[in-house]
Amino acid sequence: MVGDVSPLPPLTVIPPDLQTLADYERRAEHHVPAATWAHIQAGSAQTLARNRAAFERLALLPRMLSDLRGGHTRLTLFGLEHQAPILFAPVAYHRLVHPEGELACVRASVAMGVGMVASTLSSVPLEAIAETARDAARALGVAPPPLWFQLYLQEDRAVSAELVARAQAAGYEAIVLTVDASVKTSGFALPPGVTAANLQVGADRRQTSVPGSRILFGTPLADGAPTWADVAWLRAQTRLPVILKGLLAADDARIAVSHGADAIIVSNHGGRTLDGAPSALDVLPAMLAAAGAVPLLIDGGVRTGPDIVKALALGATAVLVGRPQLHGLAVAGMAGAAHVAHILRAELELAMAQLGCPTLDRIGPACLLPRSS
Ligand code: FNR
Repeated sequence: MVGDVSPLPPLTVIPPDLQTLADYERRAEHHVPAATWAHIQAGSAQTLARNRAAFERLALLPRMLSDLRGGHTRLTLFGLEHQAPILFAPVAYHRLVHPEGELACVRASVAMGVGMVASTLSSVPLEAIAETARDAARALGVAPPPLWFQLYLQEDRAVSAELVARAQAAGYEAIVLTVDASVKTSGFALPPGVTAANLQVGADRRQTSVPGSRILFGTPLADGAPTWADVAWLRAQTRLPVILKGLLAADDARIAVSHGADAIIVSNHGGRTLDGAPSALDVLPAMLAAAGAVPLLIDGGVRTGPDIVKALALGATAVLVGRPQLHGLAVAGMAGAAHVAHILRAELELAMAQLGCPTLDRIGPACLLPRSS
C-alpha cells in the first residue's frame, strides 16, 4: 500500500529527467508521506480541472523575425522591481515536505529572482523568513525580490494587528489578505514537529459537526468569519499596500477597490474551496473591467511559461504558483524550489521570444489565437 512506503529523502543532485513542473509533480509524490501528499494535491475535481482547462483552451500565435534586443521580463509593482511576473503563492506549512521549510523556498526565491508571499500559517516564524531573504541576497550580491506577508484574519483583531505590525517591522513589502478560506475546514492533522510558527494558539477553529447538531451556521467558524468591515479595518492598520486574494466576482472587485485594495489576486485557492468555482483565467476579463486601474494577479493551475503569457495576454499583471514550489521543495529542497522557479522563468522568456515580445508590455490579446479561428 502506498501509505506504508516511507518517503524518499530529498535529492542532493537534480537528475536530468526533471525538466518541467509536471516532472516535479510526478516525482514529488515519492518524497512526501501519503497523507501529506493527499493534503497538498486536494481540491475539488471540477475546479481543479477547470484551472488547467482554462489555460489549455487558449492557443498562442507565434510571430517571427521580431527584434528581441534589450528584452527582459521586469515589471514594477508598488514602486518595487520584480525580475519576472512570477511569485511563490502563500502556502501553509512548508516543513510538511522539507525540514528547512519556508527558509529553503525564500532562498530559492532570492536566487531565482521571483517574489514570495509568506503565509500566516508558515511553519517557521515570519521574521526568520525575512531575515533569511536578506542574508541570501547579501550572500549572492543581488537585490532581494519582493517579499509579501499573507494574512488570515484571526478571531481577535488584536492578534491580526500584531501579525501586520510584525510583518511590517520585519520588512515585508505588502499585506495579502486572503478572504476566500475563512470557512474552509480540513481534516488533515499536522504531524509532530510542524506548527503554525507565527501563532500562539492552534491555527484552526475546526468545525465539529455531529449529526443532528449545528453544521456551520451558528458555529464560531461562521459567526466569526471576516466581512468587508474587516477589510476597511485592515486598510487603516498599515501603510503597506493591501492586496485582496481570493476574489472571483466582478462585484467583489468593485467593493474591494472601494475599500482601498491596492491590488487583487484573482484566485479560487487552487480549487480548494468551492466545488464548481470558475478558474481565475475565465473571470479575468470581467474582473479587469470592474477593477479599473487596480492591478490583477492570478493563480491556480499556472504550470508553464506559456501559461504565464496567456494570463498576461488577458490582462493579468503577474501570476503566482502554489503547489509547484512544494513539489520542488519536496524533491530537492532549496535547489528543487529554485529549479522550479528557473524553469518557469526560462519557459516564459522562450515563449515571449517566440511571440515576438521582448518585454512584458508587448504581451497582449494579439498573442492569442482569436477564439473563432
Ligand atoms: C494553499 N493556498 C493558501 N493560500 C493562502 O492564502 N494561504 C495559505 O496558507 C495557503 N495554503 C495553501 C496550502 C496548500 C497545500 C495549497 C495547495 C494551497 C492557496 C495558494 O496560495 C494558491 O492560491 C493556490 O495553491 C494556487 O493554485 P496552484 O498553483 O496550486 O494550482
